[in-house]
Amino acid sequence: MDKLIIEGGVALEGEVEAGGAKNAALPIIASALLASGESVITNVPLLRDITTISKLLETMGVNVERSGDALKIDAASISNPQAPYELVKTMRASVLVLGPLVARCGEAFASLPGGCAIGARPIDLHLKGLEALGADVRLEHGYVHATAKKLTGAKFVFDTVTVTGTENIMMAAATAQAETILENAAREPEVVDLASALNSMGAKINGAGTDTITIEGVDALKPLDGYAVMPDRIEVATFLAAGAITAGDVTVRGARAEHLEAVTSKLAETGAEISLEDDGMRVRGPQRPLPTDVRTLPFPGFPTDMQAQMMALLSVAGGLSVISETIFENRFMHVSELVRLGADIVAQGRSAVVRGVENLDGAPVMATDLRASASLVLAGLRARGTTEISRIYHLDRGYETIEKKLGKIGAKIKRIKNEK
Ligand code: UD1
Repeated sequence: MDKLIIEGGVALEGEVEAGGAKNAALPIIASALLASGESVITNVPLLRDITTISKLLETMGVNVERSGDALKIDAASISNPQAPYELVKTMRASVLVLGPLVARCGEAFASLPGGCAIGARPIDLHLKGLEALGADVRLEHGYVHATAKKLTGAKFVFDTVTVTGTENIMMAAATAQAETILENAAREPEVVDLASALNSMGAKINGAGTDTITIEGVDALKPLDGYAVMPDRIEVATFLAAGAITAGDVTVRGARAEHLEAVTSKLAETGAEISLEDDGMRVRGPQRPLPTDVRTLPFPGFPTDMQAQMMALLSVAGGLSVISETIFENRFMHVSELVRLGADIVAQGRSAVVRGVENLDGAPVMATDLRASASLVLAGLRARGTTEISRIYHLDRGYETIEKKLGKIGAKIKRIKNEK
């Protein structure tokens, strides 16, 4: 397994560019299943999760080809509407194919995702939503078997705000008979990007970005014609945090301010100076961050996908911060690794108390999930001496060549390839 070696203590300076958003690309790739023809999607990041969903589509008899940042998906026919356990267990977002497959093929088999490192993460609302549209949903040997001759629009209220749940039902409803109204829908920018992609295919979706989405079913959708995925707001925010934690001066190109208000206002509370630039955002970090409290919430609140990175920053603040995680029940695995680097953090239940320390010290640590890994990279950039991060395959799921991008702005970071 590859490792990252970081020599900390360097203030990052310069410009770095964010790639396409993983969490927008995944549902948009799944939406290509809705049209019988060749879709082209651009600004698709080169990430392990994208390779996984591409493999998933290929097991269905769909041809997927990459050329630069574009993905060509030929869904002229779908021979096998299944999402097998081997792929779903490595990436929960594989369930995103469920809605499109039922809509297009009248049938789908998808493995239940089971538990994952950051919590139980059920898919009950995806299934209830499909049932509301008239699908028959059964659980058979660890698989969901959903069938429907023709889905029919309905009103559906989500019990909890779910991002991929909203996306799945929105895709299923795009070609259903009559109108669907989704209430308590997720308002994340990635949901809005998927709605724009579907509308470019001929769907009639209104209200994405609010908590009520209306979908007027159409007979058929045409393939995506070069749709460009939005920039990755979590990657942008991670680079801003990297500038902040190293007392650096970093400009991130591709940043969209309206996606990042909760993060930038928290960074500003820690003393970072944030300014808007042409097509980007600049951060100038304080010598030592100020403490602040953070509570994760659905968009437009503070994203759970930035909680671990924010914790790294607050671990060196001049005072005490409290971080509350309200979205996932077990998303503090980075705490014990940050403590290995000298942080003083105690997590209990869904809250963590972070007593800022003056310095972190490099140590060997282990990445446990995608965003936890990013927090270890940030901590390593600040720490004195060498930090060695193992199991970085988690990082490769969501950050494209992070060592090259950070290296470009001065970080002393290198990847050691697995010899085997
Ligand atoms: C998506 C993102 C992930 C992010 C998360 C929250 C993708 C591919 N992943 O994950 O990076 O951390 O949003 O912003 O876009 N829940 C249920 N029943 C369901 C579905 C969800 O109870 O059927 C609960 C979950 O357990 C969790 C909460 O709802 O507590 C939110 O989860 P959800 O928004 O669904 O997360 P994902 O869509 O899986």
